[in-house]
Amino acid sequence: MFDNLCNDNKIFKNLIGGDWVIADDSELIEIKSPIDGSLVGKVGAMNTGEVDKAIRVAKEVQKDWKLVPISEKAKVLHKVADILEEKVKELASIMMHEVAKDKKSAESEVIRTADFIRFTADTAKNIAGESLPAESFPGYKRDKISVVTREPLGVVLAISPFNYPLNLAASKIAPALMAGNTVVLKPATQGSITALHLVKIFQEAGLPNGVLNSITGKGSEIGDYVVTHPEINFINFTGSTEVGKRISSITTMVPLLMELGGKDAAIVLEDADLELAAKNIIAGAFSYSGQRCTAVKRILAVDTIADKLVDILKRDIKKLKVGSPLEGDADIVPLIDEKAVEFVENLIKDSREKGATLVVGGNREGNIIYPTLFDNVTREMRLAWEEPFGPVLPIIRVKDKDEAIEIANESEYGLQSAIFTNNINEAFYVSDRLEVGTVQVNNKTERGPDHFPFLGVKASGLGTQGIRYSIEAMSRPKAVVININN
Ligand code: NAP
Ligand code: G3H
Repeated sequence: MFDNLCNDNKIFKNLIGGDWVIADDSELIEIKSPIDGSLVGKVGAMNTGEVDKAIRVAKEVQKDWKLVPISEKAKVLHKVADILEEKVKELASIMMHEVAKDKKSAESEVIRTADFIRFTADTAKNIAGESLPAESFPGYKRDKISVVTREPLGVVLAISPFNYPLNLAASKIAPALMAGNTVVLKPATQGSITALHLVKIFQEAGLPNGVLNSITGKGSEIGDYVVTHPEINFINFTGSTEVGKRISSITTMVPLLMELGGKDAAIVLEDADLELAAKNIIAGAFSYSGQRCTAVKRILAVDTIADKLVDILKRDIKKLKVGSPLEGDADIVPLIDEKAVEFVENLIKDSREKGATLVVGGNREGNIIYPTLFDNVTREMRLAWEEPFGPVLPIIRVKDKDEAIEIANESEYGLQSAIFTNNINEAFYVSDRLEVGTVQVNNKTERGPDHFPFLGVKASGLGTQGIRYSIEAMSRPKAVVININN
């Protein structure tokens, strides 16, 4: 797609200070497709010297980038969005190969990312400061005004996960840039080729040299060095709770924005429209084989309607298409790697051994886990609490809404929940008591639209994303107080 992004040996370079580089002695990481193990490309495992350089350049140019008028910054972002839209098919194809994303999800990720970037540019143009009169505070007169503007934080380290290699990189980069920061992107290793294409698009769109830089390499090897680098002023991380906790435990005085794991519950009450609930639960649980932080990861169904719900779910889960993303219309695709498949298999085994009822699925073929539904899952089973990041859905039967709330809140996670009911009072009763960032009433759990606040509580995150929220998180107020002597 871009001539100079990789060489004939499929080696992809990193962007540092406007140059695509790789050290002569760089160790190479092979990125193999989860579909069939074929080589997608190779990326460098960057050493600490290269990391230092990327961060140093970002720091140097930030002083100038901060001063570029917002309308000029917005023009670059609009151009990025235009290029993304021109390249939907190519980018989707890279994602299909690199992270085995199904075609429909891959194409919509590119389009959504273009929309996100445009909306971010326009939102930033419209963020106004404020002025606060002193007289509203007791004891003060009309002799002071605080003029409050927003300042960038400096160098933002963006660390993105494999499952949205384009969107969850862009949703950090675009608001950070519009706030006047420069960015160093460390993408998920499996997903880094897609992310490097995004970086290239920013360059093609005219982003000045050094404003966006990239670092590839395994998080387990360079992660600690990067996140504790003294020149990093903000860390915007999306990924597992395990890695998020590690980052927050080893960093000092650096603000963090973290979107982590989840165990989103779909609560189905007695009066729910069961066809609507089942349709949403299936889409929520199984799209991209459940590899979404917001996937429906457990059903808490009231006993009286549970049998009927199970019948509908079984009927429709059987209709899901299983296969390779390259076949065009597969819903259930291979998981990201062998380790992920084995983890999910162990959850299935544990549920079987402890007496859960296997309603459908449970089998594996290569990296594909067939869509699996377990009924009568109990609190003793790992599947009641752990995040599979795969197409396995447990039903925990409950006697009433209060038991559903209790089990929902017993989770260490608190990303989202869904409540299915036709009674608005019941919807509010349950929503009020759930310890999550967002409750969806009669819909699947999901992040968008992207200007809504998106956040996790407890082990699901720190801080709030969402276009305006992200811009605000990556900037700070600056107050100039005008003292009037009259
Ligand atoms: P992950 O293993 O935690 O990796 C996320 C990112 O962190 C990758 O770029 C990874 O690099 C890097 N990393 C790994 N170890 C690191 C370390 N010690 N220091 C710094 N960075 C490090 O997560 P994943 O497997 O990509 O994604 C799946 C998880 O992310 C799930 O738990 C899912 O729920 C969560 N997620 C949450 C959200 C949300 O918005 N709440 C969205 C998407 C995903 P390498 O690839 O090189 O290891
Ligand atoms: O994987 C985590 C994403 O933030 C979820 O986004 O609900 O749009 O799939 P989504």
